[in-house]
Amino acid sequence: MCGIIGYAGGRNAPDVLIGGLEKLEYRGYDSAGIAVFEKDGVRVVKTQGKVERLRRKVERAALAEVHCGIGHTRWATHGEPSDTNAHPHTVGHVTLVHNGIIENYHDLAAKYHPSPVSDTDTEIAAAVINACYRGDPQKAIFEAVSMFHGAYALCVMFDDKPDTVYATRCASPLIVARGENENFLASDVPAILCYTKRYYLPEQGELAIVTRDDIRFVDEAGNPVEKELKTADWDEDAAQKSGYDHFMLKEIFEEPRVLEQTILKYKNDFSIFEDEEFCFEVKGNIHIVACGSAYHAGLMGKYAIEKLARIPVITHIASEFRYDDPILHPDDLVIAISQSGETADTLAAVRLAKEHNVRTLGIVNVRGSSLARMADHTLYTLAGPEIAVATTKAYLCQVALMQLLAVKLAGHRLTMQEYKDMMVAFETLPERIETALSFRETAENIAARFVDKEHVFFMGRGQDFSLAMEASLKLKEISYIHSESYAAGELKHGTISLITENTPVVASLTDSARMQKTISNLKEVKARGAFVTVVTYDDVATDDFADCKISIPRQPDVTATLPAIVTLQLLSYYVALQKGCDIDQPRNLAKSVTVE
Ligand code: AGP
Repeated sequence: MCGIIGYAGGRNAPDVLIGGLEKLEYRGYDSAGIAVFEKDGVRVVKTQGKVERLRRKVERAALAEVHCGIGHTRWATHGEPSDTNAHPHTVGHVTLVHNGIIENYHDLAAKYHPSPVSDTDTEIAAAVINACYRGDPQKAIFEAVSMFHGAYALCVMFDDKPDTVYATRCASPLIVARGENENFLASDVPAILCYTKRYYLPEQGELAIVTRDDIRFVDEAGNPVEKELKTADWDEDAAQKSGYDHFMLKEIFEEPRVLEQTILKYKNDFSIFEDEEFCFEVKGNIHIVACGSAYHAGLMGKYAIEKLARIPVITHIASEFRYDDPILHPDDLVIAISQSGETADTLAAVRLAKEHNVRTLGIVNVRGSSLARMADHTLYTLAGPEIAVATTKAYLCQVALMQLLAVKLAGHRLTMQEYKDMMVAFETLPERIETALSFRETAENIAARFVDKEHVFFMGRGQDFSLAMEASLKLKEISYIHSESYAAGELKHGTISLITENTPVVASLTDSARMQKTISNLKEVKARGAFVTVVTYDDVATDDFADCKISIPRQPDVTATLPAIVTLQLLSYYVALQKGCDIDQPRNLAKSVTVE
């Protein structure tokens, strides 16, 4: 939910810290701050607002040339966004930044820090570490975190241990990166990619001790821990906008390439998932757990798996699953879908599945993320870094991967010809997505008809209904226009009372078997004055039920909907653009929701 960064090296630390925070702003951006070692102690500069405001405040602070520090960009969980509640927090010898949530901070405050300055759990964490500090930072940190319940990634400085940053994690992400005579810590790889691609992944129960010349890891007993030095396969350019106005548009136009990468990772000619050690046989039910767009990808996966493999699939909103006392059997499989791999509700759902001894499979985009480490097996989407808060390319890759998985699970249920046809469908998908993107101007022109609307209705049947849910979320979260999604056959059971003159209704018509039924429903709303936009194939006549049409190329079978997904992402993007919204960082949202 928040972005943290640390640095020790020869550069001017504020420049490195603030530059890194700018690349982490997608993790939260309602307040920010840094703390640096000056010759006479630790100096903290922090502010409510975005990192740019912090940069200006640091310039005014006229800090001396300093070479070690920590930084934070926040998405408020405890306490409103404010200068006081911004990180870093200092108590006694200890200054720290924190990503996560200490659930028992009230109890800890009562014992260690009854009169805090801020409303945050983070200040209490600093107080507990300070209370445990008797000259040995490692012991103090391990003693303190043993009392924490919840999730945390911490970068900690002690005022009498200059030019050294200590870091540890539990559930929240953290990387420690090695440069040339300089070292870094961050929530995520893009923050430090411009300096180095080499990084370590600290495990829970390990402590990193980082100085300019050294990175050490120790366990709670103080024993050294040897770690694998990994190399990021994302270059810095991949984490920048590459000339597009927004990360979201860049990421939409990356979809053909990343989709191809994802498919090719698992499909080699006519064999799929050959390199995976995972047993794809499922004797029981499949449970899909996820949140938001990932949940919508799960709905698409359910459709494909039940259609092709005939295995019962139950989809669960992860935040519900964990409290539903779900009916799970050891023969079941729980599939958790998450772009970030850090969504608290999804992680909790996986923990619950493991408590029931159910196999877990992660569908994840971020390597080394908590979900990737927690699931019994992980299949990665290769969407690359997704910076825009509203997911597009990762969602598309999730859907495609779930459909590939459905083919794998179907096994011999498919005839050889059906199997070959599906493989060809996946091969042609990237270019069909490319074609859908070529109708960008149509989406841009139609978007103008939505800019002044207060309510929009999305509808569809089968996969087109699942798509309607995702398209509705996309529009809401970046344009702030209220929208709802409906099974096309359901609208007439009440909601059609809301359809009046010019009410916008959007439908994708990709499922040929249900198309005529949806067209009938569109005629029902058209007869009541709706402004109807459809996304469908060129050869489908739409004049007598639609005002606007966006054409897409035909795709066979379960992959038919994917080109429509891209078109509706573009539609939402252009509506938000024409409304002047903050597309990459919509209000109230964060890229990864690491709290309940
Ligand atoms: C996507 O546009 C939303 N920002 C949100 O619904 C997101 O899909 C959800 O929070 C799940 O995130 P995850 O995939 O990282 O778990």
